[in-house]
Amino acid sequence: MRDAQPKTIYLKDYQVPDFLIETTDLEFTLGQHSTEVRALLTMVRNTASKDQQAALVLDGQELSLKSVAIDDNELSPSEYEVTDESLTINSVPDRFQLTTVVEIKPQLNTSLEGLYRSNTMYCTQCEAEGFRKITWYLDRPDVMSVFTTTITADKTLYPVLLSNGNNVDSGELEDGKHWVKWHDPFKKPAYLFALVAGKLEYIEDHFTTMNGADVTLRIYVETKDLDKCDHAMTSLIHSMKWDEEVYGREYDLNIFNIVAVDDFNMGAMENKSLNIFNTSCVLAKPETTTDAGFQRVEAVVAHEYFHNWSGNRVTCRDWFQLSLKEGFTVYRDAEFSADMGSPTVKRVEDVQLLRTLQFAEDGGPMSHPVRPASFIEISNFYTVTIYEKGAEVVRMMANLLGPELFRKATDYYFDQHDGQAVTCEDFVLAMEKVSGRDLQQFRNWYSQAGTPRIAVTGEYDAEQQKYQLMVKQSCPPTPGQSEKQPFHIPLAVALVGEQGDLPLQLENSAEQATSSLVLDVTEAEQCFTFTGIKEAPVPSLLRGFSAPVKLQFDYSRDQLCFLMQHDSDGFVRWDAAQQLGVQILNDMVESYQAGETMSVDARLVSAYKTLLLDKTLDKAMVALMLNLPTESYMTEISEQVDVQAIHAARLFAQQHIARQLTDELWDVYRSNQQTEPYQATSAQIARRSIKNTALHYLMLLENDDIYNSCWQQYEQSANMTDVMAALSALVNSSNDALKAKALESFYQRWQHEALVVNQWFMVQAACRAPGTLQSIKQLLNHDAFDIKNPNKVRALIGGFCGQNAVNFHNPDGSGYRFLADQIIALNQLNPQVAARMLGPLTKWKKYIPESANLMKAELERIMASKALSKDVYEVVSKSLQ
Ligand code: TRP
Ligand code: ZN
Repeated sequence: MRDAQPKTIYLKDYQVPDFLIETTDLEFTLGQHSTEVRALLTMVRNTASKDQQAALVLDGQELSLKSVAIDDNELSPSEYEVTDESLTINSVPDRFQLTTVVEIKPQLNTSLEGLYRSNTMYCTQCEAEGFRKITWYLDRPDVMSVFTTTITADKTLYPVLLSNGNNVDSGELEDGKHWVKWHDPFKKPAYLFALVAGKLEYIEDHFTTMNGADVTLRIYVETKDLDKCDHAMTSLIHSMKWDEEVYGREYDLNIFNIVAVDDFNMGAMENKSLNIFNTSCVLAKPETTTDAGFQRVEAVVAHEYFHNWSGNRVTCRDWFQLSLKEGFTVYRDAEFSADMGSPTVKRVEDVQLLRTLQFAEDGGPMSHPVRPASFIEISNFYTVTIYEKGAEVVRMMANLLGPELFRKATDYYFDQHDGQAVTCEDFVLAMEKVSGRDLQQFRNWYSQAGTPRIAVTGEYDAEQQKYQLMVKQSCPPTPGQSEKQPFHIPLAVALVGEQGDLPLQLENSAEQATSSLVLDVTEAEQCFTFTGIKEAPVPSLLRGFSAPVKLQFDYSRDQLCFLMQHDSDGFVRWDAAQQLGVQILNDMVESYQAGETMSVDARLVSAYKTLLLDKTLDKAMVALMLNLPTESYMTEISEQVDVQAIHAARLFAQQHIARQLTDELWDVYRSNQQTEPYQATSAQIARRSIKNTALHYLMLLENDDIYNSCWQQYEQSANMTDVMAALSALVNSSNDALKAKALESFYQRWQHEALVVNQWFMVQAACRAPGTLQSIKQLLNHDAFDIKNPNKVRALIGGFCGQNAVNFHNPDGSGYRFLADQIIALNQLNPQVAARMLGPLTKWKKYIPESANLMKAELERIMASKALSKDVYEVVSKSLQ
């Protein structure tokens, strides 16, 4: 917890470390009441440091120091100084062995950072700065060391003892204890250290690398979860193969372990050869896991595996460079998922995430560039901007270079920097060096926050057969950045005519005409003229979402309907449906606010009808296109958000569609039932998706036919995707009896599966019925709830505050008060999770004044509460600025 005012750390203050640590020998003795950590560090002065007399200053937090020795001479307390966060030794030789012994209490550690307990096992989470809660160290990623780790523990309670690298020795002790020694031959920063001890079982498989090396693959879990590991193992093998084929990257040890833990702050962690996973991102089987869950496991397993090169072999110099590993690795896992399933669906899902969460972050008080210039608490910067926008920045460079040059550039980057801690600049330099392209202006994507806008207008000159696109770009101010320089925006375009894409010939260009083109938008205002255009086209813009920007083009509704049907780019087809929905919902929001009756533009119904009737279309795309813009997207694009109006308009439109297209929806619902055994293939996922989309519309009709079918689907489906779709539809229906019956039977059936119970919490948290907050408060006292478990907190509290706008934003302020109370409780237990949960309150300035004032008051109440963690302090104080 905080003493005085937390300090801001600046990128511009970066200095190389004064000391390096060549080797790190750790000895852990895990005891019932405390754990002893003995660290033997081989340290040398860094000849690159400016201050060759510098004192040795080590990082540490909540460590109880037992002894310090330099080269075997124990220091007396007068020879060093210990504060809350540091251990300073003023005079040390240029090369020495430092030995420290500390005692820590993992069983009391609820922050889930450092060494802690989850159920009956011990595990670690060291990224970003958790290693300092284990021992005194230079806890920064540019200090890389070779680690040897010995773990001693009771053999019956902790038969499995794991750490990074290879198991090199082990033995038994008299008192029922045993020990295992691990050695990791690769130098690594402390944030990649990991230790696990517990009564675990595993499944095992093997992978033969492209050069013929055998790798033993193991997934360790508690016994209860052994039946849910197969999908993760398959995903791992696919990832290893894919990284060889697409990036030429081979795995570099003979062992790769994954461990699943129930209590984990994030999704998973890429510790060298010992990945630690949130159970929610590794366990899957059809009966307990939805399609989205299966896909998430595949993506996260791949993400962590890919970090072995993009993150571990080549790591970050400092935490301002976090997107160097995260943006690149998200780009890698997104391409992997696209290759494993449906590329367009994956792209649309990623764009949806970016346009709601990331654009909202870019427009809010925590807005920061992909490479931030400052932070108070680095844990607050594991954001959608660093991850998802960072991935978009890498994607733009990959597209600018083209596949061959991009591969050459990544080869060069990996070869050049293997074993080093580097910067985003080093990555861009590699792209430039190999391609010969000038990315000077492109670098603004790294340094400037905010979402750029591009306003495009088009003009057709029939006589000259010319079509002109005028592009204006701008970027709104963000905290600390009032003026922005123009970005280099790759704008992918086509011109669609009656018979399809027209050949594009830019005026004064020697390039051959093509059916689509990427325009380099680099100026505040720019004009592009196409020649030989024989008919007035509809422009297809930002194809494939070629840049993370907000596009404004004044499409008519008929033009959008045309693009929905005829564009050759799947993303633009989907987006045309979205923009049509946006225009229509916005009209309805206005009517609602004016107290008028709402009406739904008939073009929406007929466009949806076409989608439902055309059996040749990709079912997954149809399912996506049949979904109206989400409430969170409508919120993000609103100037001043009126939650109740958005909710009412959207629900009204859905009910109208259900009434107008009842027969077509029933037909789609019936014809997409499946009898074959569950598989998480894109073909099957598409059918479930379109079927359950139809189900959700039909349930709005509230008649016995659909209630019966929904109940039957709930009761008889053998896979969680269909069960959950039915449960969620029942929970949101006004059939209280059926709703209660379903919730009760679901809990009875699944009470022993923690991850399924979390889905049960989530579906109730997201229920749009009035009075939901009351039931959420009761669920906080349910036996299955535990505020110390982040997955449960995210499901119940996060579900209510993040996925249930209409109840969270209850005009009486009860939702805001509820969240503030939870944050005040979580602040002391788990600062990282507390700060994350704050999200929905931080955007208060966007809401209508009545709501905004109530939200602000709750932020002020949190600010005034005692012992605020750095994490919560940073988010609340920035939100109130
Ligand atoms: N490096 C991890 C990933 O993206 C992120 C992570 C896991 C993390 N656990 C964390 C970040 C705890 C901060 C705190 O794969
Ligand atoms: Zn990552």
